[in-house]
Amino acid sequence: MYAADPARLEQALATLLGPEFVVSVAGIAPTTPAVPARPAPERGVTHDAPSLEAARRTERQVGRAALRRVADRLGERVDTDRLVLPHPRLTLTHSHGVAVAVGARGASTGIGVDLEAVRPVNPGIARLFLTAAERTRLGAAAPAGSAAPATSPDVLLRLWTVKEAVFKADTGNAGRILADYELCRPAAWSGHATRGGSRFRYRTVQLPGHLVSVAVHEERTA
Ligand SMILES: CC(C)(COP(=O)(O)OP(=O)(O)OC[C@H]1O[C@@H](n2cnc3c(N)ncnc32)[C@H](O)[C@@H]1OP(=O)(O)O)[C@@H](O)C(=O)NCCC(=O)NCCS
Repeated sequence: MYAADPARLEQALATLLGPEFVVSVAGIAPTTPAVPARPAPERGVTHDAPSLEAARRTERQVGRAALRRVADRLGERVDTDRLVLPHPRLTLTHSHGVAVAVGARGASTGIGVDLEAVRPVNPGIARLFLTAAERTRLGAAAPAGSAAPATSPDVLLRLWTVKEAVFKADTGNAGRILADYELCRPAAWSGHATRGGSRFRYRTVQLPGHLVSVAVHEERTA
């Protein structure tokens, strides 16, 4: 798994995302239990509270160290340990033993990243974060007679990462929920999302065992 080889993951991700972004990836040593990640913790996996708390702390520290490396490379003079996100040029995700920090190289008014380990998710979560219009568009995009339903677990996990990345790219996200953001073409691996007059561009890339989405705030349309 890539968690054991963060340098390789970082290189792959940087190549896939292109020169617009600065990327730092850190692996979290498997000495502590993996922090259960949303959207759906694995069934039957339980951790006692103190060890889970320690794992969360470690994961957060590793993530903040990755964020510091990105900020340094961008010349952003911020205290990354205490920085409260969202931030116009910096974003962070940590999950399943991997932390990914991403920065926007140029001028930016919002950036978001989300990483999820590929795993089964409950199809019932679709209603929690997709709008009715998105679910309709996904149904229409499914090929007739397709064996895989439009909201198959794979699609849902990808869209979850997209919505989380878009949410994080919205510097005005306080009080918002994922369903406040509307994806124009949810069947596509890259595209646009809107919330009111705000517009976001996103892209999802697949790496062995992981999905990573990055979103940037684009422009105001109203
Ligand atoms: C904040 C949120 C995006 C974090 O996502 P997550 O998958 O739990 O965690 P990730 O590892 O991907 O990201 C964690 C990082 O997000 C960043 N973050 C937290 N709140 C943020 C916000 N409002 N905007 C941007 N980034 C934020 C933090 O840097 C955090 O790192 P830290 O632990 O060092 O502080 C998520 O909890 C959330 O609120 N989602 C939207 C709300 C929603 O609709 N929830 C219901 C869905 S059914």
